[in-house]
Amino acid sequence: MFEITHSRIMLKDEFVDWLVLGNAGMFDKTHLYCIDYAMRNLPSDSPIIEIGSFCGLSTNILLYYKMVHERDNKLITCDKWMFEGAGSNEF
Ligand SMILES: C[S@@+](CC[C@H](N)C(=O)[O-])C[C@H]1O[C@@H](n2cnc3c(N)ncnc32)[C@H](O)[C@@H]1O
Repeated sequence: MFEITHSRIMLKDEFVDWLVLGNAGMFDKTHLYCIDYAMRNLPSDSPIIEIGSFCGLSTNILLYYKMVHERDNKLITCDKWMFEGAGSNEF
């Protein structure tokens, strides 16, 4: 038996450390590097669409990194609030 592990880049950010204490969510902090990279390298001023904002934690992080990288792109968010079948008769 063996386990393949992937090294992941953890971006440290004090604002996000505090935000996750007060904003409900399921944000995986290893995604911070990706958000920082994407926001830093946005190819245009077209709107950004977030699918699955839940309670807005990732939305607030996206807004924060938009501010950090001085991007004016609109951010459009949505969530269908259907959690993997919860509340349905699938269970
Ligand atoms: C892992 S949670 C998102 C966590 C959130 N980004 C955060 O920072 O806490 C996934 C979310 O995606 C939403 N979702 C799944 N499929 C969707 C779809 N087709 N359109 C909109 N929202 C969707 C679910 O309702 C759920 O709230």
